[in-house]
Formats: sequence, structure tokens, C-alpha cells
Amino acid sequence: MSKNPTPLDRVREFEREQAMKVSADERPLFHLTPLVGWMNDPNGFCWYKGQYHLFYQYHPFSRQWGPMHWGHAVSDNLLHWTYMPCAMAPDTAADAGGCFSGSAVEMPDGRLMLVYTGVQPAGTFRRETQAQCVAFGDGKDFEKSLLNPVIRHAHLPEGYSEFDFRDPKVWREDGVYRLVAANRHEEKQGAILLMESEDGLDWHFVAELDASDNEYGRMWECPDFFPLDGEQVLIVSPQEMHAREEFHAGYGTVAILGQYDKKEHRFVRDSVQPVDHGLNFYAPQTVLAPDGRRIMIGWMDNWETCKEAPRRHPWYAQMSTPRELFIENGRLCQRPVREIDILWQDTVTHEDVTIQGETTLEGVQGRMLDMTVTLHPKDSACRRFTLHVAKDSKHYVQIQCDLARGELVFDRSHGGSHRDIAHTRHVKAEVRNGKLTLRLLMDKESIELFINGGERVVTSLIPTPLSADQITFAADALLCLSVEAHHLG
Ligand code: FRU
Repeated sequence: MSKNPTPLDRVREFEREQAMKVSADERPLFHLTPLVGWMNDPNGFCWYKGQYHLFYQYHPFSRQWGPMHWGHAVSDNLLHWTYMPCAMAPDTAADAGGCFSGSAVEMPDGRLMLVYTGVQPAGTFRRETQAQCVAFGDGKDFEKSLLNPVIRHAHLPEGYSEFDFRDPKVWREDGVYRLVAANRHEEKQGAILLMESEDGLDWHFVAELDASDNEYGRMWECPDFFPLDGEQVLIVSPQEMHAREEFHAGYGTVAILGQYDKKEHRFVRDSVQPVDHGLNFYAPQTVLAPDGRRIMIGWMDNWETCKEAPRRHPWYAQMSTPRELFIENGRLCQRPVREIDILWQDTVTHEDVTIQGETTLEGVQGRMLDMTVTLHPKDSACRRFTLHVAKDSKHYVQIQCDLARGELVFDRSHGGSHRDIAHTRHVKAEVRNGKLTLRLLMDKESIELFINGGERVVTSLIPTPLSADQITFAADALLCLSVEAHHLG
């Protein structure tokens, strides 16, 4: 370290010491965790110089949220991550209160530009404010612009907040940079603003693309905006949602599908749907992969559930599995990235077995598994199918399908938690063309459940001891099913 280490030098030194102390066994197999300390939102997800880069909201010095840094990791396949040194610390006047969420874009000259929210701490007569900053670098070291914050409250029309103005998602098109950022409008609450710049430094306001109007929560966080399969998709993470339609109360993730008039910058909604129905998924961000896939990763947690969650490891929080997005029958669907097959080890299949009552299937157990269960309830009197995973004599996580009602209940109440928080979620799971498929990705302390090819997804952490690794299948009448289970390693 140099004689006069900067705050970032100190973090990097701390990371070098800490990294040695955490063994791979203490982490999930393929879900990204922070190198040390705390992590929340994915940031700066991009493909840059032949690799995926993923930055994250990071507080290295404790397993609780604190002054926000940007952690950093790179990967060739989105599943095996290599840590890079911390990319940014809150060390300038423009971001002294934290380097909040943001994104990354490659510049025509080959540099990587990070666009993020700088928080300016409260003063004696002033509340904390938020504005957008930029930093330029080579994919490892970044220099913050002396002009920061480059997007201020003064850039916005009246009615928008200087206190809730954050999470820019940037891209480059038509020879300019564009970004969407979240704001809180006096009347409309959550609002997504489109800004434009030729050089990344000089920005102007273009349009408000959409707003909550108090319908879908209050402040909207972490927007993303991209075309997909003939639709335009706006993703936001609202705070303080009221339960409605398929949305649960609290912190949610919302996909707004619509049509976008690029010339007029007008976005018109077609439909609004939850991105994930689980207990732990928030603030996702997407990347356009070089092969054209739109890939999304989310923080596998949320602000309610993380508060008192057990801190069992030297790190806290993990990212979701990266997922390929696609649109089918007007719905935003997700499937685990196809690269997942590099983790498949031995595969166990059971074709068309008929079960009744509770049963195990040979070779199907474990806590690191990619398992697809296909139910064939045609001509069966079976109404209820029940899957127990992470099971031992004291624990189980239950996934129960009411085949007649077309509803699935995910329930981790018996998963080992003693906390008075939500442990169940209800989600549509309909039998289509005589079958219902459930694909479960389990990686030690998490479950991601993709229903019917990913038309609905349920993502949840489970606190269950790893020794609870049994899986049982139960039906209340004769039921035919097939199972394909890949053990992961
Ligand atoms: C979303 C969020 C963002 C903010 C960041 C702070 O989870 O609240 O809006 O930039 O976390 O860590």
C-alpha cells in the first residue's frame, strides 16, 4: 500500500486479508456472495472486454448495510465468479454519503463508464440529497469525474425530488448515452425519468416514461428499460406496495410491458406483472449478452427480510441465479441461464412413475440440485400434490399444488426460522395441455422455483440446516409424474 492510502486502498487491503479467511465451502456453490461483509443490489451488470462484470452494493466492513461501496466480480459463464478489488468507495464530496446503485456502459474509446447515485450527506440545515455521478475506467480501476454530480435536481422539471433520485441504468444507442433513473414525484410518487447525453458528462432531461400514481407502491427503485421479443419492458422495484392482483405487499418487483415510441419517447403500457413471486428477490438488473440474450440477476433478499436475518457466514446476502428473459403469451418469462449445465454432475431420471401417498425417489435428494418435476394429472383424481425439500425429521420446505384451482403454495414455515415474518407465498400454477412443470434450483440456502417453463418464478432463501437434504413427493390420489434431477457441483 502507498504511504498515503486512500479510502479505496484501505478497503482493497482489507479485502486481501479477508479473502483468505473464507473457504469456498462457506459460500453457495454458484450464487454470488460479497467477498466479505454486506451486499445488496446488483450494479453495473455488463459484458466488457470478453467477460461479464457484475458490481454490487457493498459494505465490506460489516454484515449490515453501511456506507455504500461498489464490490466487483467477473465471470465467463455467469456461474463461476472471480472477485475483483472493490471498485468504488464513498470518498468524494459528491458521494460522501454513499455510492448507491447504478450501471455501466462501454464507451466508444473502449473505457467503461460507471453511472451511479452519489449521496450527499445531510448538513445542519439540509437533508441528505441524491444526484447522479460518473466514473471512467479500464474494468478494474475507475476515476470519478471532477464534474460530479453530473445530473442534479436542477436538471429536472418541477415536482421531482432531490431526496429520492437514484439508480441510473445507462445504455448507448443512436450515438448517444441514455439512462433511466428513479425519482419520487410530489403527486405521482414513483416515476421513471429518461435522460440523454452525448459525452456522459453533460446530461439533459428527456421525458418521464411512467409513474406509479400511487397504484404500484410509492418510491420506485432500480429501473431497467429494454426491448424484448417485440415489446418494451420497464422493470422497477417499488417500495410500500399494497397487495393487489398477483402482487404481494411490501417490497416488490414489477415488469411493465408496453409499446415505446422512440422518437416521441412515449411509453404506453400493455400489462403490469410481478417479476418474481417469492420472498427474497429485489432490485434486479439486466445485461444484453453478446449472443443477444437479455439476462437478469437480482438481489436474492429484500429490505424487510434482511433486517434480522441470521448472519451465519462472514458475508451476508447473495445474488439470484442469472436468468434469460423472454416473452411468451404476453408474459415476461425467465429461465436459468443455459450455462447452468456446466454444473450438472450425475443426473437421475424417473420417467412416468405413479405415486400415491408420500414417497421418496431413488437418488433424488440433496441441497445442490437442478430438478424438474413434471406432473401429468390427466385422468387422475389427484387434487393435491405436495413436494417436500430440505427435509429431515424436524424440518421441511413445502411446495404444494392445488391442481384443481391451479394454485401453488410455497411454504418455508417449517424450514427452521423462528422469525415472525412472511414464510408463504401463493402463486398461479396451472395445468396446461395435461401437465404442470416445476423446475427447482437449490443451492444450499436458497430455492428458485420456475413454474411452467418460467412463466412464474418463486425465489426464496431457506434457513434450513444443510443436513436436511431429503426430498419427498406426495399425492392425495394416484398421480403420474416424471423427475429429472441434476446434482450440481
Ligand atoms: C435498492 C436501493 C437503491 C439504492 C440502494 C442503496 O435496494 O434502496 O434504491 O441505490 O439500495 O444501497
